[in-house]
Amino acid sequence: MEWKREDFLVTDRPQDLDIGIIHGYLHESYWARGIPRATLEKALANSLCCGLYHDTRQIGFARAVTDRATFAYLADVFVLEAFRGQGLGKWLVSCLLAHPELQGLRRLLLVTADAHELYRQQGFKDLQAPQRFMEIHAADIYRIGP
Ligand SMILES: CC(C)(COP(=O)(O)OP(=O)(O)OC[C@H]1O[C@@H](n2cnc3c(N)ncnc32)[C@H](O)[C@@H]1OP(=O)(O)O)[C@@H](O)C(=O)NCCC(=O)NCCS
Repeated sequence: MEWKREDFLVTDRPQDLDIGIIHGYLHESYWARGIPRATLEKALANSLCCGLYHDTRQIGFARAVTDRATFAYLADVFVLEAFRGQGLGKWLVSCLLAHPELQGLRRLLLVTADAHELYRQQGFKDLQAPQRFMEIHAADIYRIGP
């Protein structure tokens, strides 16, 4: 799949992903700080990924962890700082959500610290019954050292 807007491109082609850029960002992010490159490579290989490109340079990323039939978990959404605030994040997320492999799902989930409004614009709502959800969250799993 491919979506174009002026000099920008969103594609789902795995071979276009710049793992150096993605790892460089996520390794410093608040949610995946310290993620090993090998862990990320395995996650990308097993996800439906969309890269955002300016000309040929990757400037953003989003992925869905999904069975492509019933469920998807949206993760690791970012746009590099220099390109923020011009609608690209919204566009990237809307492209991923419009992907043919993500249609007719029974549930989509995500977790965010502060970007709720971004996702609300794409149809996400606060959990209707948070008491029904449970998690195992190893927040420090990538932390190196004591
Ligand atoms: C979140 C992010 C991808 C948005 O990308 P962007 O290209 O700057 O966003 P857009 O220009 O498409 O606009 C995003 C919209 O969501 C809103 N928004 C709500 N919370 C936001 C947040 N925490 N960060 C950015 N935008 C947010 C904006 O106000 C804007 O709405 P508007 O157009 O009605 O004003 C980008 O800011 C980013 O990479 N942030 C750091 C990583 C991150 O927090 N990722 C999300 C993890 S869940």
